[in-house]
Amino acid sequence: MKQSSNHTSWALDTLFVHGSKLDRGESTTGSPTVQPIYTSTTYLHQNTEALDRAFDHTTSPKEGEPAYVYARQGNPNAHSLETVMAQAEGGVGAIAFGSGMAAIHAALLAAGLAPGSKIVAAKDLYGSTISLLRKVFVPLGIEVVMHDLYGPDAANTIREAQPDVVYVETLSNPLVKVIDLDAISAAAQEVGAVSVVDSTFTTPYLVRPIEHGFDLVVHSATKYLGGHGDSTAGMVISAKNSLLNSLRSYAMILGAMLSPFESHLIKRGLQTLPLRMERHCSNALQVAHFLQQHAAVERVHYAGLPGHPQHALATSLLGPARYGGLLSFELKAQSREAAFYFMDKLQLCLSATTLGDAWSLVSYPAISSHRDLSEAERKHIGITDGCIRLSVGIENVEDIMKDLDQALG
Ligand SMILES: Cc1ncc(COP(=O)(O)O)c(C=O)c1O
Repeated sequence: MKQSSNHTSWALDTLFVHGSKLDRGESTTGSPTVQPIYTSTTYLHQNTEALDRAFDHTTSPKEGEPAYVYARQGNPNAHSLETVMAQAEGGVGAIAFGSGMAAIHAALLAAGLAPGSKIVAAKDLYGSTISLLRKVFVPLGIEVVMHDLYGPDAANTIREAQPDVVYVETLSNPLVKVIDLDAISAAAQEVGAVSVVDSTFTTPYLVRPIEHGFDLVVHSATKYLGGHGDSTAGMVISAKNSLLNSLRSYAMILGAMLSPFESHLIKRGLQTLPLRMERHCSNALQVAHFLQQHAAVERVHYAGLPGHPQHALATSLLGPARYGGLLSFELKAQSREAAFYFMDKLQLCLSATTLGDAWSLVSYPAISSHRDLSEAERKHIGITDGCIRLSVGIENVEDIMKDLDQALG
């Protein structure tokens, strides 16, 4: 009996559990339920004529007929992950990359950044994305304009700037501001710009930006998609075939493709993504309320709190009680020493530079995600000396709060 798992009407949770039909194909006696990891660098074909055709397929693979030639140009494990993510995001296809930064780099090139072009980007981006724009794209002759795209003037800013590319994050890092996806994509469309969004913090479980008009969706799959802190990867999902072909071409040329083993790990992580995201969200909401009333805490940045200026936007975009697992907060003692003291006193939450793992993680943006920015630039974004980012894990929430409490005390 054929056991395909690619029925398009199945819900997202089912898609993530079963993966793509490429994983299993026709079942025969003894066929594995889990896709093997293909370590091969190169692939054989019936004859040289077939090899010649296969080369064409690597640049524009046909649905159901993937042709593999050389692992850097695509491999079955990456392809299967890409198929699931394309379906999950509602795109025409996806490409898996060796890291989130490699994915962002290729996405910006595919979106059309070239000498003489212009990008309008949110000023609150992840620090390395800002560095990519400044250190790689500016020297190439690309005009980079960074603006507060989280405010009501975002659409006007885009209309006035007339950029070729617009780049935002669904939730900003680390202050978790919420982007108005519909307004941004509409303004980008009006001026003929390609719209790109980093949806790492939200994942397709919370929001699907292509449904809100975006052209390219980027993920650091190292975070929630993988979810277990043991793999580094990136994804780009495209709403358009032309952009997808360009992305694939850049991935091959830059050598930025994801390896078969990492592809396997990310896809295994996806199986539990909905369960983990639900728990991340509910734990984060409780922890945000707890921190908000704590005597040692000045302010909590989390869109799930009713007092957050973008609470209504977040609720309409993500749904009630689905505000993500990441928050940041400011200590009353606004100093680096106080922040380090607090972080070193934690016993359960790990002080490590990532987010989206099963365990809770704290980081100090000034020495990690926003290290490359000057103090003045961090202040301009709103990152104070007492600012701590917390990726709320899926542990027992009482234990997380107990740990935070003893360290804050
Ligand atoms: C929002 C966001 N985008 C992209 C990245 C880069 O991803 P990677 O570390 O997988 O290259 C990160 C890393 O922290 C991130 O937080």
